[in-house]
This record gives sequence, structure tokens and C-alpha cells, in this order.
Amino acid sequence: MKTLALLAVVVFTISGICAVDRNKFKTCDQSGFCKRLRAFKPEKSQYELNLDSVLVHGNVLSAEVVTRDPADEKRTVLWQYAFKLSALADSTFRVELDEADPLYPRYRTQLALDGEPRPDSLKLTSNDNSKLTLVNKQGHKVVITAKPLKLEFLDQNGEVAVVLNENSQLLVEPLRVRREKTEEDGDGNQVNVEEEGTWGESFQSHHDSKPRGNEAVSLDVGFPEADHVYGIPEHTDGLALKTTTSGDPYRLYNLDVFEYELDSRMAIYGSVPVMYAHGPKRTVGVFWHNSAETWIDVVNYSDSNVVSSIVNLVTGGQKRRVDARFMSESGIVDVFVMMGSTPDEVFKQYITLTGAKPIPPKFSLGYHQCRWNYVDETDVRTVDENFDEYDIPMDVMWLDIEYTNKKMYFTWDPIKFANPSEMVANLTAKGRKLVVIIDPHIKREAGYFLHEDATELGYYVKDKDGKDYEGWCWPGSSSYLDFFNPAATKYYSERYRFENFPGTSKDVHLWNDMNEPSVFNGPEITMPKDCRHYKPTQDGEEGIASFWEHRHVHNEYGLWNLRSTHDGMMDRVDGKYRPFILTRAVFAGTQRYAAIWTGDNSAEWSFLAASIPMCLSLAIAGNSFCGSDVGGFFKYPEAELMTRWYQAGAYQPFFRAHSHIETKRREPWLYPPTTTALLRDANRRRYALLDYWYTLFYEHSVQGLPVIRPLFQQYPNDPETYTIDDEYLLGNALLIKPVTSAGATSINVYLPGNTLWYDADTYMPHTEARITQPVTISKIPVYQRGGSIIPRKERIRRSSTLMADDPYSLVVALDSNNSAEGTLYIDDGETYEYKNNKFIYAKIEYNSKHMTYTFINDNAHYPTKSWLERVVIAGIKTPPKSAKLQQGDKSTPLQMTLHKGNDVLVLRKPGASMGKPWTITFAY
Ligand code: NOJ
Repeated sequence: MKTLALLAVVVFTISGICAVDRNKFKTCDQSGFCKRLRAFKPEKSQYELNLDSVLVHGNVLSAEVVTRDPADEKRTVLWQYAFKLSALADSTFRVELDEADPLYPRYRTQLALDGEPRPDSLKLTSNDNSKLTLVNKQGHKVVITAKPLKLEFLDQNGEVAVVLNENSQLLVEPLRVRREKTEEDGDGNQVNVEEEGTWGESFQSHHDSKPRGNEAVSLDVGFPEADHVYGIPEHTDGLALKTTTSGDPYRLYNLDVFEYELDSRMAIYGSVPVMYAHGPKRTVGVFWHNSAETWIDVVNYSDSNVVSSIVNLVTGGQKRRVDARFMSESGIVDVFVMMGSTPDEVFKQYITLTGAKPIPPKFSLGYHQCRWNYVDETDVRTVDENFDEYDIPMDVMWLDIEYTNKKMYFTWDPIKFANPSEMVANLTAKGRKLVVIIDPHIKREAGYFLHEDATELGYYVKDKDGKDYEGWCWPGSSSYLDFFNPAATKYYSERYRFENFPGTSKDVHLWNDMNEPSVFNGPEITMPKDCRHYKPTQDGEEGIASFWEHRHVHNEYGLWNLRSTHDGMMDRVDGKYRPFILTRAVFAGTQRYAAIWTGDNSAEWSFLAASIPMCLSLAIAGNSFCGSDVGGFFKYPEAELMTRWYQAGAYQPFFRAHSHIETKRREPWLYPPTTTALLRDANRRRYALLDYWYTLFYEHSVQGLPVIRPLFQQYPNDPETYTIDDEYLLGNALLIKPVTSAGATSINVYLPGNTLWYDADTYMPHTEARITQPVTISKIPVYQRGGSIIPRKERIRRSSTLMADDPYSLVVALDSNNSAEGTLYIDDGETYEYKNNKFIYAKIEYNSKHMTYTFINDNAHYPTKSWLERVVIAGIKTPPKSAKLQQGDKSTPLQMTLHKGNDVLVLRKPGASMGKPWTITFAY
């Protein structure tokens, strides 16, 4: 009966009939700590730094911080805290505040950082009995006011760029022993005065036992001179964050939200607590290193809805300022302040802390075909063959949960997928791959090896009483592996070995879904907060101190799942081949292991439009490898929407069509032939640019810059760009403005930077910043920046692997000085041999006299068979009379064609090998 009721709920919500059920998810008022902390607005902060306790050692200042009883004249110390300020490499500071002697250790987030941050120097330059001044190597100062505690971070011009606790909202609720606390009321009765909700709170039918009591932390962060703040994905709101004084704060709590709504601050699948503040003066950022449920308030004093009395009170009338306040349910105050000072620098500083995405295998930048579900091996084969039949490039076929034997992961349906190895071999023969889904819930079924092992070995997450936690997910009754237990992680990683997962090979990659984790019958569709996770214990730690609660780790659960999968995939190939993993849950650091997508969207124009700010926001928070379900997951996209979605998807990093099990089939050839042709064209455009994408991902892995970029990143001094989130840059050379509305015949495009932008289809230059672009259904508005060079491959084949040795075309878009430059990265596309220098990273430069192709990396060697097929030079005002290619000793005169109408010069078949440097010389 219970099963049927649950299924009914699931089917109802996923069949596309209703929008998000807001009642399932907490508002701030329903979340005990959010309500409590939001109401906490002391006039003056109770936190004071004891100047006599200050110690500077290496890059760290440590000191005692205390709170005092404001009601007591003697100002008795209430609580003692350990304060730490560290100077870190890359113009970053870290501030930590923990209890000096907590009842039990408080949780410190474990996996977000990419190792211990590197130290910088920190010098105490003055201590005047009320203030300390410190400076790092780059000349950023930190001024610490002792009473009440306030930290100001000054930029290199000596101006305050970030300020902490100016609004007195610093708070670390001390852990306390539970006591029944009663007081006598006016009538002489003993009444319980324990704060409501301290030792337990309820939401709908769910009770959270809160065995440690209240343990929330909070801090306010001020950004003087900022016009906007960005980041803290994942939300469906715009890129620039909004003032939250009316309504709820932005929420970060990884949740499986059926039919999530747009323009919302509600939490969805991912939580990356990094925020950037930008204005004409500078860009800075803060990374709130905390994996518990977090709410963030934002006040932008220039917003018209912020009343002027508040503006005056807080900023003395200064409207250019944004304040934020982070509130987390548990943990410590641990915040990184990144001093920027440009968007490029601050985005890199965040990557320095949490790691870059390593170069993905090249196939994963191609087109992915998914559906819940391709029902059997014949279905997979037919779909695969149709891509050839209709001449549409495709790299990856995907299998959703139905491929398993009754939702038992690491198994195959014995009838529908009886010969997986053969199925995989059919795909790999064309250079294609397979991705299969593995979710973290484990079916509780007798005889299922994974369940039996996990039960016997104690590898499951425990409930509040220490028994294996049981929840409900796709397989029915399920338990969840406790990836915090190193033995469980090792065991899980080993399941990916080929001998343990027969039918898989190095060409079978992974999709970890539902890893928020999703629990259909849990509070807010996730795991109860009082569930218990493994904790390595020290001597004497027992009872509450011997485990972490799910509340402490929730937002990083998915990351632990991904790390195990990643380790398993590395191990199965002895570290030789790069794994591809897709994840739905996101936290800081996820980029090191996986690509992400925006979950269960809907076949509606508004969701297509939302995919742009959602991915941009994730990209600046480290996760460049982002996409949305092309076509929309729920509902059916009619031909026009489908066409526009393919056209947009072709220019988004992760390009995968996917759809819900109950929707009508929608492979490209099921549309009218004119639409199929348009979808083919979109995919072919993607494949033509694959090497540009690949070069950008390589550059991200070494330089840390996002692959897709908001306009303000590249044009930080142009305020027009600050709120644009319906167009974006791909690297620094292409500007994309997808068409996201029905029946469009023209769209307005903003072309920033006071520079030339060339229409990527016609090479016609635009000099004005605002243009109205006419669009037909086949037009994708893409512009190449004057001054850039882009590599392309024009011989589109069935998959990226088959194009590996194909020749390049280079598109040179000239700036007003008749020059341009670009880069190209080439390697084998799948192994780690690049670490042994087996790659080419080349610089391509053009001026009117020469065009050169030289290697940036010393000792570069990769034996590419690719050669130079064509050079297209757009914007040529004075065409040369002749051109000559020089490679090694060989000199070859080149054929040229001038297209007068649009000033394009084409050099045909230069024929140079791309494995060695070359020069083309022009004569006039
Ligand atoms: C939820 C995912 O978001 C969706 O993409 C997938 O198809 C279903 N789970 C079934 O696995």
C-alpha cells in the first residue's frame, strides 16, 4: 500500500501536470536556524579579540576571541573562541573562528579544497592597542579592530574592498550540554525555558532530533564599491544576485526538486558557496567553506527596493555597496577572502583553492544522446545507426536506470541487455562511447551482492539510532553507502573494476545521479539530518562525538560519491585513461571529478533561456563543464523549440539531449526533414569547433579561467555588461546569443569592448555596440572578436574520434590594427600522456606581414597527422599580392582567393603539418 502511494506521488509529479510543490521544501521560517539567525540583529557585536593573545607565526595570526555578557557590568566572558587569519598564495586570506574548547569537535568541511592552500607571507605592521594592521606580500592590508571584532581587507590602493562583521552578524553558537532548564514564572510555576527547537525540530511529518542542539554559524560580508554580487549557484535566478530583504534568502541545500521553478532562490541540486562582488573599481570574492545547509541574504544598496533609511544607516548614503550574510546550520566560521582585483583574477583564485577541472576526454565535448530509457540493445543499436543514416555526428549513447536488473546498480537487465560487451563494441567501432547511470542508493534486496556486502561490512549510512538507514528511491526500499567511511569508499570504487562490472570497458563512462542524496520519503526529499556518518575517532571520543551527522556534511555527500567513482574509474584502467563522469549534486570542488547538468528542466522556452545564466553562474564557481537537458526533460518540444535548443546546446559546454520516460520519442529524425536538417546543422557546427572547445578546456586546466564567461569578466570596466546574462563568451573569442523565444525574426545583441565583432557565418564586421540581428530559423547568432584566431575542422564525421587526424582551418578575424592571435591544443584526447609532454600547445599570431604557428610548451611533441587545410582571414583591407609558407626547409607559394564583398581572403591548402612550427609570409 505504502509502495503504491509513493509511486502515485512520483508518477504524478514527474508526468508534467503540476509545478514544483513548494510545501515539500522549507522556507527560511520553517528552517529553525534560518529563522533564528535572520532575527539576530544586535546593535553591537559581542565578539572581541584579545589583543594580548595575538601571535603571528609564519603566515598565520592567531588570537583569542571572546564574547561577553552585555547585560553584566563586569562584562563576564561568556565564551572563548580560537581565531585565525592566514595569508595564502594568490592574494587570498582565510579567516577561521572555532570554539576554543568545544564540547565535541565541530565539523570542518573536508573535500572542497584541492589540498592544503599554499601560504603567503603575513606581516604585523602595527598594533595600536585597539587595532592590528597586517600586510601580505602583494601589499593587501588587513585591519583588525578588536572591540567589537571587525576585519577590513584593503586593496593595493589602500581602499577597503571587503569587510567582515561590520553589521555585527558574526555568530558561532557554542555547543552545550543538554539540560532541562526551567524557571519560575510569575505564578510560581516551573516552566521550561529551553529555546524552542534547540534539541529537536519538526517539518511536516519529519522530526529532526538535533542531538548536539543549536550549532549555527553566521557572518556578514560587506563589499564597498560593488555594483553587483554573483555566484552561490545553484539557483534558477539570474546571474547578478538580487536583494533578499523581501522574501527568503538564497538557499544552498542539495535537493532533488521535481519540476523546479524559475527565477527562484529556492535550493536545487547543487550548492557552491562562493560569491563574487564586482564594480568598476575591482572584483573580489568570498568562499564560505561550509557543507551544511546555508542561507544567504543579499542587500544591494543601489536596488530601488532597498529603502533609503537603510542605505543611510548602513552606508551613510553610499549606494554603491552590496552586503551579504552567510548563515549555516553547523560547522565553524571558515571564510576565504579573495582580493581579485579583476574578474579573471578572482575566478582563478577560487580555482587555486578548489582545483581546476582536468582536461576532459575529448569525446565528452561532442554530442551525447540520452533518454530515460533506451529500452534494450536493439533500441541502442537502432538509434546509433540512425545517427549515421541521417548523417548527424554523435559521440555518446547513454543508458538510464532501466538498463539494470531491477535497479540494482552494477548489474544489467538479463533479457534487455544480455550482451552489453557486444553493444559497447558496436559503438566503439565508430569511435563512440557508452555512459551508464549508477546512483548512490542501494536496493535492499536479499541476494543482491552490494546490499549484502554493505550490510555485513557496515558500509551504510546509519539512522539516528545507529541502525542502517532505510529510505525510498527508484528501487523501492534502499540504503545509502557511507562514502565517509574509507573502507566503504574503497569497496565502492572497486565495483567499477571491469571484472566486477562485466560488460564495461574503458569506453563505458559514468553518470552519478540522485546524489544529493535523493530520498523520496525523506524530509525535503533527502536524508534526515540526524542520520550518522562515519568519523575517524580519537581516543575517548564516544557517543555523539563518534559520528558526524548528515546535517554537517549534506552538501558534500555527492562530492564523496563522485570521488569514489572517479577513483574507481582511474583504478580500473591503472590510471591510463581519463574518466568522464556526470553528476547532478554539486559542491565546491566537484569540478575536479565531474561534469554537471541542470537537472530536470522542462520543454519550455523559459527553461531554454534559464540554461544560460544557470550555467554561467556554475562556470564562474568552477564548474565550466555544464549543460542542460537539450529539448527539456519533461514535456515534448515542438520543432521550433527543439531546433533552438540544439542551436543553443551546440554552444554550451556539456551538449546532451535527454528526456523523461513518459515523453514522446524525439530523436532528431523523428521531426520533419527540415527540422532534422537544422538539428544536424547545429551538431555539425559543434563538431567544427571541437578543437576550440578542447583548447579552452586545456587552458582552464592550467590557468583556471572559466570556459564560458559572462560579459563582465572580459569587459569589467563596462557597466552595461554587469547584468547581461542572456549572451556570453566562449573563451575570449566568440560571443554567443542563443535565440530563446518563439517566432523570433530578430534579436538585439550587445557587442562589448569597442571592438570589431564578425558575424561567424558571413564574416561581416560590426562596429556598433548594439545591433539588431535578423534571424531565420537556421541562424545562430555567433560573433568572432576582431583580433582572434579560431581553429576549426570542417570535415565532420560520425564521431570526434574519427576526426582526430583531420586537417584544420584557421579563422583569423582582424582587429583595427590588422592583427590577431589565438591558441591551439592537440593531444591524444584520452590518456594522461600530456603529463609527459606529449601534447602541442601552439600560439598562432597574425600581422599583415606574417602568420606564425609556434609552440608555447617547451619540448612539445605530439605526432599529429593533422595539417593546415585553409586559412580564412576576415576584415582584410589591403590584400597581399602573394603568400608563402615556410616549414622547416620547405617553402611553398600559396593560392589565395579574395572575396571582395566581405573582405575575406582565403589561403587554400597550405598543407603545413600541425606537428611542427610554420610561418606564412605575405608580400604586397
Ligand atoms: C533524475 C534525473 O534528473 C533524470 O535525468 C533521470 O532521467 C532520472 N533521474 C532517472 O534516472
